[in-house]
Amino acid sequence: MEKELFGKDFKWGVSTAAFQIEGSCSSDGKGASIWDTFTARKGKVHGGQNAGVACDFYNLYEKDLDIVKALNIPNFRFSIAWSRILPVGKGAVNQKGLDFYNRLIDACLERGIDPWPTLYHWDLPQALEDLGGWTNRDVVEWFSAYADICARNFGDRIGHWMVMNEPMVFTGAGHFLGVHAPGRTGLKNFFPAVHHAVLSMAAGGRILKASQPHAEIGTTFSCSHIEPYSQRSWDVSAANRADVLFNRLLIEPVLGMGYPDKDVSVMKGIRKYMLPGDEEKMAFDFDFIGIQTYTREVIRYSLLTPYLHAKLVKAEKRKVPLTAMKWEVYPEGIYPVIKKYSQYKQIKKIYITENGAAFPDTVTNGTVDDQERLAFIRTSIQELLRAREEGCPAEGYFVWTLTDNFEWAEGYRPRFGLVHVDFETQERRVKSSGKWYRDFLK
Ligand code: BGC
Repeated sequence: MEKELFGKDFKWGVSTAAFQIEGSCSSDGKGASIWDTFTARKGKVHGGQNAGVACDFYNLYEKDLDIVKALNIPNFRFSIAWSRILPVGKGAVNQKGLDFYNRLIDACLERGIDPWPTLYHWDLPQALEDLGGWTNRDVVEWFSAYADICARNFGDRIGHWMVMNEPMVFTGAGHFLGVHAPGRTGLKNFFPAVHHAVLSMAAGGRILKASQPHAEIGTTFSCSHIEPYSQRSWDVSAANRADVLFNRLLIEPVLGMGYPDKDVSVMKGIRKYMLPGDEEKMAFDFDFIGIQTYTREVIRYSLLTPYLHAKLVKAEKRKVPLTAMKWEVYPEGIYPVIKKYSQYKQIKKIYITENGAAFPDTVTNGTVDDQERLAFIRTSIQELLRAREEGCPAEGYFVWTLTDNFEWAEGYRPRFGLVHVDFETQERRVKSSGKWYRDFLK
């Protein structure tokens, strides 16, 4: 497989997120985010770990961008920490926060790397959470003001923006299950968070487009290939309901299709939070949709699971190979996912803005020979090519992620990087997968 098969306009990249790499959580006027608060709570993160230092990217970004360049990676996706720019989420701007992202963007451009910022990768300013956060409809205004500041300060050098990262995960894990920040639970938090995230995504898209008409504006979604446990009708319909929740709930309103609540009647509960005129406000014609996919899920009927009557058959129980996240190793899943999203006629272009796998890497004689990750990424790219050759508009691929980092509630244990990090010394070592990607992109 050669890079040339994808054409010269195909976007190759690597993705990161502010909270997972930057560290320096209270430096230079940064305000606390919900993840700073959440990691400080007992029992929330594996081993009680936090992201106070993480990969020290706040200080080491130039060195890390040198690695990006040495790996021949032309596109670098990162996120902007809202509470660096607006320490309490709204009101006064922190100049030092703007300075950091200006330096970062300039450092990318100096190296010939295209910067791809995401406005929101899960780190809401804590001060806004104290006002209700994503459950308070005012968040749409707060987010819009923040988006406008980013557009005005950074937009002159940005060709590709993403409004949000995986809203299903921060609403589902953070507002229904309570296993991610801010740790809210139940439908009373989940539904308003979903609706306000959808309104904010579309509002953010409109603001970026108005300010930067020539930039490509996108937003990203988590997606998994779903299969029913059996072909029995109850398992098939359970899998369809899970598909509504995991794959359709957040994207369809943005595409102008409204919420997909016909198959899962409990979802009609979102309507309680809708005001007249919201249907139009929920939609925005994005230039591209970012698809982020990691594994396959198998779903079976379950009487006892409330609302959905569907449950995941854990990969551990299916006797399949597992990643360090206990997800099935299934790089082939990228193909049906691309096929599925290509069917939405409103989607003009798909970039795979995250894909990768965590494995328990070991350093041996100074090297990390991560053959499983290498194979995972190579197979994913091959499967993407297959979908592309069948006419799907898949125009880019970004590996998750550059360096091992802070994997949210899982702490530092799962390593996803192309580059190994020794978290004691901050030493970086390019893994075999990184070297493979470098040679592929040469
Ligand atoms: C997120 C990343 C995360 C990765 C692996 C995605 O859901 O956007 O922040 O580290 O998956 O779990």
